[in-house]
Amino acid sequence: MPSMQTSDAPVCRLRQCVLLQACFLWTSFCLALWALNGGTHIKQFQLPGPKPAPQKNNSSIISASDMGISDEEWDRLQKAMDWPIPDQITDLSQSTSPVHSSFSIVGLKESYKVGENISVTITARDFNKNLKRYGGDFFKAKLFNSALKASVYGEVVDHRNGTYSVDLLLPWEGQAQVFVRLEHSSEVVQIIKKYTDSTFPRTHFNGYFGSGPSKKRIREVVECNLKWGEDGSWKKGNCCCEYKDIRAGTVWQCIRPKILSCDKLVHHSGGRLENPLNRFEQQLFSKKLTNIAIGGDKTIINVLPNAAAIDTVEKCRPGLTTPVPAGFYLKDVWKSFVCNTRQFSPAQMANCLKNKIVYLFGDSTTRQWFEFFEEKVPGLKRMDLHTHPGGGPLMAVQLNNNTVIHWRVHGVPLRFARILPITDLHYISNEIDEIAGGPHAVVVFTYCAHLVFHPITYYVFQVAKIRQSVVALLSRAPDTTVVIKSGNTAGRKSIYQSDWQALQLNIVMQEMFKDIDGVIYIDVWQMTSCHYLPEYIHPGPVIIANEIDMLLSYVCPN
Ligand SMILES: *[C@@H]1O[C@H](CO)[C@@H](O)[C@H](O)[C@H]1NC(C)=O
Ligand SMILES: *[C@@H]1O[C@H](CO)[C@@H](O)[C@H](O)[C@H]1NC(C)=O
Ligand SMILES: *[C@@H]1O[C@H](CO)[C@@H](O)[C@H](O)[C@H]1NC(C)=O
Ligand SMILES: *[C@@H]1O[C@H](CO)[C@@H](O)[C@H](O)[C@H]1NC(C)=O
Ligand SMILES: *[C@@H]1O[C@H](CO)[C@@H](O)[C@H](O)[C@H]1NC(C)=O
Repeated sequence: MPSMQTSDAPVCRLRQCVLLQACFLWTSFCLALWALNGGTHIKQFQLPGPKPAPQKNNSSIISASDMGISDEEWDRLQKAMDWPIPDQITDLSQSTSPVHSSFSIVGLKESYKVGENISVTITARDFNKNLKRYGGDFFKAKLFNSALKASVYGEVVDHRNGTYSVDLLLPWEGQAQVFVRLEHSSEVVQIIKKYTDSTFPRTHFNGYFGSGPSKKRIREVVECNLKWGEDGSWKKGNCCCEYKDIRAGTVWQCIRPKILSCDKLVHHSGGRLENPLNRFEQQLFSKKLTNIAIGGDKTIINVLPNAAAIDTVEKCRPGLTTPVPAGFYLKDVWKSFVCNTRQFSPAQMANCLKNKIVYLFGDSTTRQWFEFFEEKVPGLKRMDLHTHPGGGPLMAVQLNNNTVIHWRVHGVPLRFARILPITDLHYISNEIDEIAGGPHAVVVFTYCAHLVFHPITYYVFQVAKIRQSVVALLSRAPDTTVVIKSGNTAGRKSIYQSDWQALQLNIVMQEMFKDIDGVIYIDVWQMTSCHYLPEYIHPGPVIIANEIDMLLSYVCPN
């Protein structure tokens, strides 16, 4: 087993990690499974450009059982993620043009009533103004009223023939206008998809090794990455130190330092990015062509009151499904269609959080929740854990009310710029395994933004682990509140990060938890997609405030 000879002494700084034995067993196990499964292949990408990408298309060959799920579930997930494949194009002008694509309102009426829909048709055209003949463009649509600070999200249905339709609900009284943007052309989505399915490492990470007393400390920095896929995917041969987390199943690799041994890995940070695009792909990806508003029917729609419109009365509880739209903004307040949400004053927040231990896991977007609580909840004070405020872990307490709030980032891969102790990066599934749970425990996690750089199969594998841990937690302590906060939109448009990828991850998370009783899903995708603030990976305070009201409406429904 070549990967084995690469590892050093089995003294490992990674929490819950054992080097030699585990790597060996795990690798043999996976190889055996691959053999058994005959290596189910992922659908190969059809290149849209005229020239194939040079040697950069190494697709991962991962089977459902490698991911820890059944073949049936993998089929289901692939169907849920299915996205139309564009035709081959040979010229840039054949890609979808935001300038020539347009939308229109079908059967526009003088006036509407609250609760009615309007139907919008989007027509995609290329740069020669020709109608597109196939689907796959990524549009985002919403209805809005700036003066009322009102907006609602609409789902775009792809007819796979160059036309798309959106039914937009008219949830508020007054005026409304349609807004549609082309996030990515189908051609660009296909490029993103190609690199998401492949194991090409678009991101790298740094591993900081150190040994000896501070005055004479030896330091070395090397590149690290995830080991995933057909015999490793990143570096091969006798290159690397390997760190396997037995419970999470993840193998982390760092290039073997010249002087220090593998057990001297101490810190971690995000590293350089690597652009896999060829020239043609690069041109398709031009910033001028992505995330652009398209022209169309800007008619002001008049919406009249409707006494018959039904209000949600359902109490917020686990197991509710998320419709489209999941709610809407009016005067910057999110009114949910999932259940009866309310707004919490700082005193009500303090009351709701009384006798609670809140565990926030994930990334900087759950840290925003932590910071929001810290700012709003009277008497809540951050303990000094001597960690970096951006990297955590963080903890805040309110002694009078016996409230504790924890925040912690998930394990590697994690692209924080800050150099963090690798011992502080814990896998969400492992963390959940260590919570006894109960009526006082509120467990919230987000797992999205940092995973867009890596194969979707790895994401499925990790979500399966998290699901296992959640099921076990709810079995030992059914009164535990478990909340999934979806990934939010970020308006990002590069080969490294794009909302299309984040949407795919959200679909996987939602699908994989669909049948798990007792779990709450908070869809912040819709909440961020339709808000008037420019899309940003860290949503503005007004959005966070609405997200927190959603959360607390579940924690304290009465
Ligand atoms: C793809 O695989 C080949 C053969 O294993 C290897 O030589 C090459 O470096 C890989 N390319 C990338 C980008 O991973
Ligand atoms: C890339 O894909 C093509 C077509 O599927 C294949 O012929 C080629 O061997 C692949 N290259 C690598 C390095 O995997
Ligand atoms: C509005 O559109 C949605 C989505 O297509 C549909 O489910 C709903 O029934 C429609 N409502 C009305 C009142 O037409
Ligand atoms: C595309 O498909 C939709 C739905 O089947 C149909 O209503 C529409 O007429 C088609 N448009 C074109 C241009 O073929
Ligand atoms: C909880 O905290 C709030 C705000 O500090 C305070 O007004 C209230 O008295 C506290 N409740 C208890 C039981 O200490």
